[in-house]
Amino acid sequence: MNRTLTNIIIDIIAAFLFLGMIATGYLLRFPLPPGSNKTLSLWGFTRHQWGDVHFWISLGLLLALLVHLVLHWNWIVTVIGKRCHLVKTAHPSILRSGILTIVIVTLSITLFAWTAQNSVKEIVRPMRGKHLGHAGSQANETLTTVQAPAQSSTTQAGVDFWKDVYPIFENHCLSCHGSQKQLAGFRVDHKEDFFSRDGRAPLIVPGQDSKSPLIEIVSGTKIDMPMANVHVLSGHDVAILKTWIDAGAKWTVATDAKK
Ligand code: HEC
Repeated sequence: MNRTLTNIIIDIIAAFLFLGMIATGYLLRFPLPPGSNKTLSLWGFTRHQWGDVHFWISLGLLLALLVHLVLHWNWIVTVIGKRCHLVKTAHPSILRSGILTIVIVTLSITLFAWTAQNSVKEIVRPMRGKHLGHAGSQANETLTTVQAPAQSSTTQAGVDFWKDVYPIFENHCLSCHGSQKQLAGFRVDHKEDFFSRDGRAPLIVPGQDSKSPLIEIVSGTKIDMPMANVHVLSGHDVAILKTWIDAGAKWTVATDAKK
């Protein structure tokens, strides 16, 4: 096939794959937000399945870009080589160019994957992170040592709603009960949804964690709870909610405006 035609076809394929990536990326960001995998599906696919589609399209795009690079390699080598006075022959072989491209790209991908794999960290809860302000990433070491006192202050001096409690709702509930979705007609960013529900027991009874349905829901003991498993929180988070409720479940509205 004619070289120019091949180039055009490859570029058209790459352009379509790129559009596919944007489209699936959009699906994963907005119609199917994080946390919705178990509750929602779109055109027969769940969030995770769309994630797979997104991944395979991106691999296809990578492949198309590689072919594109190989097809233009001579040009690249000649131009860069001339700039740096490296090239002696005007027509380097396409086979050698191809192999070189694949080696460079494989090396970069491996290096990236390796770095990513080794950089995964457990999330440091924002309630502790915030004490340190904008300390940046090098503060991770310090964070580990700061955690202990922060934890004990939770039990001794009570918890702060915006610092300790709301982030739990934000991280674990907001994707299904917030501005994008209001499953069961309930929003965690609406104070009143916790304290009064038309004709039903309020979720929170201030001062009495054992009488608060919210605690049953997040500790997994509520009978007939729909999708009970997505509602269960860690023992640590449940303890914070209990402490907060027992201390009167104060939800300061002055800061409410920040939502
Ligand atoms: C993955 C989505 C999802 C997440 C995350 C989620 N929920 Fe739900 N929640 C649901 C669904 C689905 C229902 C049931 C909706 C229905 O019955 O129509 C529900 C129902 C509820 C109800 C009403 C149940 C009742 O019997 O009154 C409350 C309250 C609730 N969730 C609170 C929470 C809290 C608190 C969190 C965070 C700890 C949370 N949800 C996280 C999906 C979610």
